[in-house]
Amino acid sequence: MPAIISKVPGKIILFGEHAVVYDFPAIAIPIDAVQLKVSILPAFMEEQSTIRIRNFNRNEDIPFSELELSDPIRISIENVCTFINLKPPHFKMTITSSIPIAAGLGSSAALAVAITKCMSQFLGINLKIEEINSLAFKSEEIQHGLPSGIDNSVITFSKPIFFSKTKTISPIKIKSPIHIILADTGKRTLTKEVVAFVKQRLESDPDTIKPILSDIGRIVEKAVKALCNGEIEKLGTLMISNHNALRQLGVSSIELNRLVKSALKNGALGAKLCGGGRGGYMVAICMPSSCEKVSSGLISVGATHVIPTMIKESK
Ligand code: MEV
Repeated sequence: MPAIISKVPGKIILFGEHAVVYDFPAIAIPIDAVQLKVSILPAFMEEQSTIRIRNFNRNEDIPFSELELSDPIRISIENVCTFINLKPPHFKMTITSSIPIAAGLGSSAALAVAITKCMSQFLGINLKIEEINSLAFKSEEIQHGLPSGIDNSVITFSKPIFFSKTKTISPIKIKSPIHIILADTGKRTLTKEVVAFVKQRLESDPDTIKPILSDIGRIVEKAVKALCNGEIEKLGTLMISNHNALRQLGVSSIELNRLVKSALKNGALGAKLCGGGRGGYMVAICMPSSCEKVSSGLISVGATHVIPTMIKESK
């Protein structure tokens, strides 16, 4: 039996992180420049199932039975097996990822989506895309407590999406390609902790925090129109407003602000933190002619890694 393989992209939140947890809309896009791959082979002759992990932090083989109960790999495998109501024969699962962990690029959602897809196929079941998405969300919920569901949705559908927690998810038609630069602060922060921080601020100071969240919601509504109309400069201005609102929310950091400032100084049309914040990646949009200057400027102010990529126009 050949290996069953599932490959998924990373993601960025282009607009609306954090406010999306409180049912404001947000825009997310898949990023093929970083990916996560899961493959499964049967291991009938082996005494147990094993998980082989190949990424930045880990390079190891672990027997399935030694994974902690709270391990995201174990949670995703068990969720899909419970849903399908089948126990897999012994297997060898290999996970290879270039998505940095806790950096705002969707590593945990990518893991949940890819395992759900791959394990269901290994068990001979073709799940509907909505089923894959809701199972991946369930795994995210166990780990994160309060996810909006945007990360698993954009990775499952692998298309730019306009998302709100309680309304339907709609694909966004991108009118013209957009050049983006992602830059790493080198700092890692768990999204779960930053989401909990915003929740605590909202509870203790709703008069300050509620208007910031509403403001982000209005920025997102304008941004989706700008994206559909190909108004890149307007999009850039809205990104700057979104970053400032996230700063007021308290989820930026000295490093993120430094990268945003440098990108704008070197000609980016807009820049903001992306994802949970407090570290991780910044995203900037640029005209093709300024991409190189923006990238080298980011490195010179301390970005540990820069990824130039594109949001492709919709076919
Ligand atoms: C994380 O990529 C985006 C957040 O809004 C959390 C979430 O929506 O689950 C910070």
